[in-house]
Amino acid sequence: MEDLLQSALEARERSHAPYSRFKVGAAVRCASGRVFTGSNVESSSYGLTICAERLAICIAMHEGEQEITEIAVVADTQGAPGPCGACRQFMYDFAPKADVLMGNLKGDRRRVSVGELIPWGFGPDDLAAFGPQATPKDDTTVG
Ligand code: THU
Repeated sequence: MEDLLQSALEARERSHAPYSRFKVGAAVRCASGRVFTGSNVESSSYGLTICAERLAICIAMHEGEQEITEIAVVADTQGAPGPCGACRQFMYDFAPKADVLMGNLKGDRRRVSVGELIPWGFGPDDLAAFGPQATPKDDTTVG
């Protein structure tokens, strides 16, 4: 999984963080073997900022991937960087069985499962009682 961390480190260099100056990189590996990366992209309306992890996950989904197996996140933090709450929700939605490797620039590492990051989360299965239209199964496209 070190290679995935390296991909996240390289992605971090492409961060657009003029406001916080806090650069984050992420990489996701899919069951297909393909790897997609993302970095944080900040908006002048700060709350619209997209985190590195969510961008990488969105790209994987946009590329038609069905399953994300591993996620790596890199930032210049004291210890290994824990993903924000919004990204943990995205992981629960799109990569519930994934392992997450977090690393900082000093070489600190931490590896956990998505289940550990967001225990007892809200996900697609919770919408099942709401009707079949709310729970994408095989075909996740609309139309
Ligand atoms: N950020 C991420 O990209 N991922 C996280 O998990 C935590 C925060 C970004 C958002 C913002 O651009 C900057 O880090 C400071 O919060």
